Amino acid sequence: MHISIIGAGYVGLTTAVCLAEIGHEVLCTDSDQQKLDLLRKGGVPFYEPHLTAALQQSHATGRLRFTDTIDAIKSSEAVFICVGTPPLENGEADLSAIENVAQSIVEHAQGYRLIVDKSTVPVQTAQQLRKHLQHYNKGGLDYDVASNPEFLREGSAVEDSLHPDRIVVGADGERAVSILRQIYAPILEHAFVCPIHKKCPQRDVPFIVTDTNSAELIKHASNAFLATKISFINMVADLCEAAGADVSMVAQGMGLDPRIGPAFLRPGIGFGGFCFPKDLQAFVRIAENFGCDFSLLKEVEKINVRRADQVISKLKKELWVLSGKTVAVWGIAFKPDTDDVRFAPALGIIRRLLAERVTIRAYDPQAMEKAKSEIPDVTYCKDMYDAANGADAILLLTEWNEFRNPDWTRVRELVRRPLLLDGRNMFAVDEVVKYGFEHIGVGRKPTSPSTAVTITA
Ligand code: UDX
Repeated sequence: MHISIIGAGYVGLTTAVCLAEIGHEVLCTDSDQQKLDLLRKGGVPFYEPHLTAALQQSHATGRLRFTDTIDAIKSSEAVFICVGTPPLENGEADLSAIENVAQSIVEHAQGYRLIVDKSTVPVQTAQQLRKHLQHYNKGGLDYDVASNPEFLREGSAVEDSLHPDRIVVGADGERAVSILRQIYAPILEHAFVCPIHKKCPQRDVPFIVTDTNSAELIKHASNAFLATKISFINMVADLCEAAGADVSMVAQGMGLDPRIGPAFLRPGIGFGGFCFPKDLQAFVRIAENFGCDFSLLKEVEKINVRRADQVISKLKKELWVLSGKTVAVWGIAFKPDTDDVRFAPALGIIRRLLAERVTIRAYDPQAMEKAKSEIPDVTYCKDMYDAANGADAILLLTEWNEFRNPDWTRVRELVRRPLLLDGRNMFAVDEVVKYGFEHIGVGRKPTSPSTAVTITA
């Protein structure tokens, strides 16, 4: 099929590449000309595993092309809207980019168009989109509007798009459903070769058809629920610390109940990224606009904001006076396998330490370029060892694989004080204390070489 994708951000670009991978002819566009130029040369403006290789492959086959918006709208029967919906001052999503696309469609498209909204939007956006098209249509446009939310995670975006847990289609007519079923047929029928696994996937993918309002709510409710799970386990972690329990064991015990499940029960420094924090705020505002006080989610957000306080107070307790101390930061990105630092909890923590006149020596495998423009007053280091040099404490803030098994003897020699604040419970406590480190994790007892006991999970 001929498909156009409007907006080449994480969702748009991944969708464009993956739809081309499964056999469609895809035109992708963005309002940022520089980005389009880069994409035309086979470059990707952010770090995302497998995306560059898959893009170059689709480019080479000619199935993926980058063009301007008008051409994209004129050329394809199915137009996917993947533009940004950034937060406004009041927390609501800014939908002006979506309205602009709708306006361009009315002005430039003739004949039938299936307009698919993939951006994360408030419930009733498809209804509004439909009304807008109806009011401004000069007569030559026939259309359906569908909602097809995307559930991809940064760091595994290609994998998630090609092997989704579910495909959700919100549509109010059979024509739209049938076109979307055709678009996703290669995934539903295991009829493509995955560029990552080099074979045809065999997992059955549920194709869920709903009305557009429900589809829009599925996306926001899913993100809000996952964020709630994280704040819940973070509170349990605080309780474990206060009461002398171990949150890893508690989470393991809870997660074995299939009604709860083990995922998203990792306590830490809080959730970040461009989805959870903004979607949570937007969802609260949406509920308010419909007269529902979703105060549960306000608390989820508050708990998340407080995670940075925890880190600072733990550090203060150990280092006493922060001013003049040197802290090594391992990891800045909001999660591993991405260079994205938007709403990254590490940024807030680093800013607060800088305000306390702490010297920060930071290293992140991918996110340093993006971090530099946000927090320039940091010494950016060439690797984790360089960052540890002369440090009074090491703060592990993003659980990159690269940090998993350091040469602890070397780290021990480099630091001024062997104090490890493990913000993601990444390290095996027994292992680090063997090398003389004090280990302070999340939701477990602090362990030092003199107090170490072996706990069997
Ligand atoms: C999220 C949703 O998972 C995805 O379905 C949606 O499409 C976009 O938003 P993403 O923001 O890429 O994806 O990251 P995710 O893996 O969900 O992690 C979000 C944040 O939660 C990260 O900061 C992560 O470190 C944190 N997190 C996650 C925890 O603190 N604990 C956990 O157990 C899981």
